[in-house]
Amino acid sequence: MSVIQAPRGTFDVLPADAARRSALEAHAARILEAAGYGRIETPTFEATELFRRGVGEATDIVQKEMYTFDDGGGRSLTLRPEGTAPVCRAYVEHGMHKLPQPVKLWYLSSFFRAEAPQRGRYRQFWQIGAEVIGSATAESDAELILLLAELLESFGVREPRLLLSSLGTPETRAEYREELAAFLRTHRDSLAPEVVARIELNPLRAFDAKDPITQETMRSAPKLLDRLSPDDAEHFQHVRNLLDDAELRYELEPTLVRGLDYYARTVYEFTSEALGAAQSTVGGGGRYDGLIEQIGGRPTPASGWAAGVERILLASPEPPVAPRPVDLFVAIAAPGAERAGFHLVSEARRAGLSSQLELAGRSLKGQLKQADRLGARYVAIVGSDSEVGLKQMDTGEQTNHQYDAVIPTILRSSRLA
Ligand code: HAM
Repeated sequence: MSVIQAPRGTFDVLPADAARRSALEAHAARILEAAGYGRIETPTFEATELFRRGVGEATDIVQKEMYTFDDGGGRSLTLRPEGTAPVCRAYVEHGMHKLPQPVKLWYLSSFFRAEAPQRGRYRQFWQIGAEVIGSATAESDAELILLLAELLESFGVREPRLLLSSLGTPETRAEYREELAAFLRTHRDSLAPEVVARIELNPLRAFDAKDPITQETMRSAPKLLDRLSPDDAEHFQHVRNLLDDAELRYELEPTLVRGLDYYARTVYEFTSEALGAAQSTVGGGGRYDGLIEQIGGRPTPASGWAAGVERILLASPEPPVAPRPVDLFVAIAAPGAERAGFHLVSEARRAGLSSQLELAGRSLKGQLKQADRLGARYVAIVGSDSEVGLKQMDTGEQTNHQYDAVIPTILRSSRLA
């Protein structure tokens, strides 16, 4: 029979990898909770409509990357491709506007996109995300950016670069889009055919073109950052001032295009060369003042980011894995001693000792070898008589104890150590 493998673009997290992931999770919890962010977990699937309206009908995500299915009752559901629209849905559904504002939330969850898999790009992946809902201030944008910078730097992400821009409001953007489309139409002879084909659908994508002639043409194209309304320009300047005060370096990237439609004003991405040029974005986000209204809530300003867990792990050094300490290994030295051994290991765990029991039917010699492999400090050898042999593995010294004295002896030695 053929062997069944994990679906393309997915991966198993094995115990050796799980330790680093847990460390990252603990790291994120520490940084975000200290800044007042509470953890939220939303369902793995949502009504498809949420992403159609929230992420945007014209985005690649909605057009071709969603795992959508019928629930059998005629309802269309979708495995969440991102976390912002679900968090906003939860904010509206639970009436969180009645709480003191803003509401600060963070999550670590898995997401699903039917993308072409490659290093750092998967069909199921994890994100750490943070959202501040109910504040229009530049301070909330700057706070979010600084928290993401802290998370990446303190976890050791190599050479993070921050790219920053502002998209203005949807109105400014619509006017700018027209201006850019007109520019592209008058320069169509110096643009790649695929760029010309997208002039009406998505003129902004022209800035992403790899073709050198198109790139040259785009250098003289109008930039959105130069077209911001006075209010938006002031908001953006305020964000920049706060980042400057915090001495966080950033590069202005006037053509930064994010793959989701809900952004307005501040947008940013952190990249790391350690990920390779094709897939260098570690995390990104921005302000999305119109999203809550778009999914049926009252107008509410909001801002946030998400960073890819796998990308953070790929872009940071792997520390040596410290073996888990094992205080006690319980070896079974005679048939019939299993019950007493099982009881001993349960008692040891209750007393707070990390303990393991022989479960593979090895010989006593094999069990001692296994205890050594695990790095156990003590081996309790449970036989047929009432005494238990207690072997201290670093010295090789073995003493005999009454069954009830075994755990107190180990605890006493741990206190002395
Ligand atoms: P995003 O830029 O689509 O934004 O994703 C954020 C991060 O998730 C990316 O920078 C990347 O690290 C990771 N990521 C995305 N797709 C994949 C994939 N296929 N495989 C591995 N990692 C991936 C959002 O999702 C927005 N919800 C961020 C946000 C929050 N904006 C405001 N609040």
